[in-house]
Amino acid sequence: MKNYRYALTAIAAALLVAASTSTWAHKEKHTAEQLQAFEDVFLEQVKLGDALFHGDPAAVKQMGVTLSETGMACAMCHPFAADIHPHEFPKFQEHMNEFATLRDMINWCIEKPSQGEKISSDSQAMKALEAYIYWSNRNSKLDPGRH
Ligand code: HEC
Repeated sequence: MKNYRYALTAIAAALLVAASTSTWAHKEKHTAEQLQAFEDVFLEQVKLGDALFHGDPAAVKQMGVTLSETGMACAMCHPFAADIHPHEFPKFQEHMNEFATLRDMINWCIEKPSQGEKISSDSQAMKALEAYIYWSNRNSKLDPGRH
């Protein structure tokens, strides 16, 4: 029993040392300039995603994608990214009849209601759409699997 207690104390002490030397998290705080630079990169993606979501011809051409062949942009069915629910993914998606990620569902909407051409999951256009959709739904509580 005593040995067991010693072992526990030793583990606790080791964890404390590990935590104080902070091997798991960021050691140094970011500077204000770094934070601004990160924010700038993020917002640039949000802006591009916003343009794609609204079917902006210049952005669509620049990315070389065909998101819609019906003349309907995402924003016409999802004004202000409504009914997109990014915080619920991954989840079983009834329309796809499978367990889906947000990117899977973006592609479903490109192919089905929009009759466009599916984009690669790790393409710049997908990242930008995702950035815009998450940004529009910021402050939503993460609730994966929910409907
Ligand atoms: C013609 C209308 C229409 C257009 C255009 C459209 N969608 Fe949708 N979208 C829908 C419908 C209908 C659903 C299914 C709603 C549901 O599951 O309740 C949906 C659902 C979604 C969902 C999943 C919501 C959920 O909770 O499961 C995502 C993500 C999505 N759309 C993204 C997009 C994106 C990105 C575009 C543009 C490339 C787009 N949609 C264009 C009609 C549209």
